[in-house]
Amino acid sequence: MKRIAVMTSGGDAPGMNAAIRAVVRTGLSYGMEVYGIRQAYKGLLAGDFEKMSHREVSGILQRGGTILQTARNKEFMEEAGQKRGLRRLNEHEIDALVVIGGDGSLRGAMALCRLGVPVIGIPGSIDNDMYGTDYSIGADTALNTILDAIDRLRDTATSHERAFLIEAMGRNCGYLTLMAGILGGAELVHIPEKPLAVEEIGRQLENAYLRGKNHAIAVVAEGASPKIYEIKEYLDHSSQVGFEVRMVILGHTQRGGSPTAFDRLLATRLGVRAVKLLHEGTSGVMVGLHGNQMGHVPLEDAVSKPTTFDIERWSEIAHILSR
Ligand code: F6P
Repeated sequence: MKRIAVMTSGGDAPGMNAAIRAVVRTGLSYGMEVYGIRQAYKGLLAGDFEKMSHREVSGILQRGGTILQTARNKEFMEEAGQKRGLRRLNEHEIDALVVIGGDGSLRGAMALCRLGVPVIGIPGSIDNDMYGTDYSIGADTALNTILDAIDRLRDTATSHERAFLIEAMGRNCGYLTLMAGILGGAELVHIPEKPLAVEEIGRQLENAYLRGKNHAIAVVAEGASPKIYEIKEYLDHSSQVGFEVRMVILGHTQRGGSPTAFDRLLATRLGVRAVKLLHEGTSGVMVGLHGNQMGHVPLEDAVSKPTTFDIERWSEIAHILSR
């Protein structure tokens, strides 16, 4: 294995730079040449490759975003796009590829793998919705960002005796919302995996009011149904709740910022492990954190199996602790 390439793909996540740095420097330590592919599969198709030395990854460990940039690319979902990608890799004499991204990105990685390219996936997504790893890069930083917002919003909620509806990211996965709800002391969490009727949401917020609380915090996942604005609309026209209601959508603030120590360590370990596996001749897998150990699962499982995060158990804990 002489020449490898690395890309970051899909939604950016804090810690991706730490992973790039680990991949590049570990590759160089094995005597490999390492190339960065800019803007993910879009850059692959355009042949946008850059040779990386130690200096290209200096001073990036603590930076959010990704120095290689990222993109979502429809063309690469089709076989024709994938074959063009293979051609570009061959033109640049790339022997193996490391893809850092979420499930969509690793589906692209798997397609290349099926075309014969040795590929390793690294889970990078704030959503933490993937099978085969306890945590994906960026989830811990995003969770801390959400908690910071909840703490601030509770201050003002208490001062005014208000209820706040706070929307967290996570596409179709309630991980961030559920954890932020538990760790932020929310009165209610609303996640895609466990839909609640607006009337029930109103009732739970009213219960907080009747119990004498001087604020109520509801964390609502972006993918949950009903949506946050539908809940707000309902509560605004219902005399049920007691509290005046405000709504905050945290949006992409959750994707930025300097990675936490946890994410830097996770990204570093995953990057080192990915290149070590390639060096030893293993590919077609996604590396992950299993307990406190590095492990790996077939890429196929990583993109097709559901996360093992126990939604039922954590939902119950959230409910018990919200009293
Ligand atoms: O997958 C990460 C994520 O931030 C999701 O939580 C969210 O649904 C999505 O990306 C937003 O994507 P975009 O930045 O393309 O709007």
